[in-house]
Amino acid sequence: MAIKAFRSSILHFKTEGEAEYFDDGILVVENDQIKQVGRAEELLDSVKDLDLTVYENKMIMPGFIDTHIHYPQVDVIASYGEQLLDWLNNYTFPTEIQFEDPAFAKDTAEFFIDELLKNGTTTALVFGTKHKQSVDAFFEASSQRNTRMICGKVMMNRNAPDDLLDDVQSSYDDSQALIDQWHENGRQLYAVTPRFAITSTGEQLQKAGELLKNNPSVYMQTHLSENKDEIAFTMELFPERSSYLDVYDHYGLLGSRSVFAHGVHLEDADFQRLAETQSSISFCPTSNLFLGSGLFNLAAAERFNTSVSVATDVGGGTSFSMLQTLNEAYKICQLRNEKLDAKKAFYMATLGNAKTLQLDDKIGNFESGKEADFVVVDLQSTALMKRKQSKCKTLDEALFSLMILGDDRAISETYVAGEQVYKK
Ligand code: GUN
Ligand code: ZN
Repeated sequence: MAIKAFRSSILHFKTEGEAEYFDDGILVVENDQIKQVGRAEELLDSVKDLDLTVYENKMIMPGFIDTHIHYPQVDVIASYGEQLLDWLNNYTFPTEIQFEDPAFAKDTAEFFIDELLKNGTTTALVFGTKHKQSVDAFFEASSQRNTRMICGKVMMNRNAPDDLLDDVQSSYDDSQALIDQWHENGRQLYAVTPRFAITSTGEQLQKAGELLKNNPSVYMQTHLSENKDEIAFTMELFPERSSYLDVYDHYGLLGSRSVFAHGVHLEDADFQRLAETQSSISFCPTSNLFLGSGLFNLAAAERFNTSVSVATDVGGGTSFSMLQTLNEAYKICQLRNEKLDAKKAFYMATLGNAKTLQLDDKIGNFESGKEADFVVVDLQSTALMKRKQSKCKTLDEALFSLMILGDDRAISETYVAGEQVYKK
């Protein structure tokens, strides 16, 4: 039995409105789990015989959680000049074809997970490609690092290059085989992954619905109402459906484990239906700005009690950093004359995102018994941040400066299941 203790300032959230902050705290980790968190003054005696690591001028937080990202799009990041549909055709689809090669998939998956860890992200909901082997490569890399990850093979059988298409039966069979092999294998979890309505026939979406019915503990991830041309094309393909969301609803794809990326152009009735079915939206600010998709309406989602998480959407998104993602989320809210305060932002990136993934019994904060995924954050990682932090009078100001100015340089160390997996 290995018990370790870490002394630092510590921040985590007990609930949405309730941050717990220790200016001088101790986090006790037993094997791969959180044992205890509290004030150093109170815990020092009990940890005096333990392996104690002391951090000066750092803040320990739960590992960040990213609810929408594409591992095969590492090389698509920062591709110039197009909005969604042309960006997919010109950059993304040609790149994804390369994942036919398992060696390429392995190399990319390893780079990708290491990049997440370098940015303090310890759990993500991840797209593979249409190739079954792309998902094997991802889960193998994740298993080696013992990270809690959710991934799925993309189902797509039309409106893309032939080399990137599966068919109704093979997409069903490959998905089921991957579920059988990987879902709940160690820390790995599976998500049924129809790319979006444009690249699936109704028959394929039907099969995706069957997979969910037959495997009730798996997730569903897809894209929804990201871009105006995408919405128009979807309604041409499914004229009998009342809205883009209704396409997915018709095929049984809504539910508490269903995560819809973007939802930039939703009607009130869609927000309502998402809330009714406990489906969630993944808000991807850097992507929505980079691809010119639009400004997500967080206030409308909240009005309808629709659950919203926050995500990078690399390679449409422009950064692996959840700090940079919160920065851009703040600016999108500003453009709508709304405010996103720092506590809420950090809640979203940790416990809030864990809740939308129904993983808040395992990760997201430092409750005793949770999996010990955490980051050691350096709020003074650049000269400018150091100068700015010295002017901050409150925790809120310090956290706000961190989310606006911080990036991968602010991540000093990352721990996964109690083990250090990254050190700057
Ligand atoms: N819609 C369908 N596929 C994609 C994708 O790969 N990225 C984004 N941002 N939107 C999509
Ligand atoms: Zn995406």
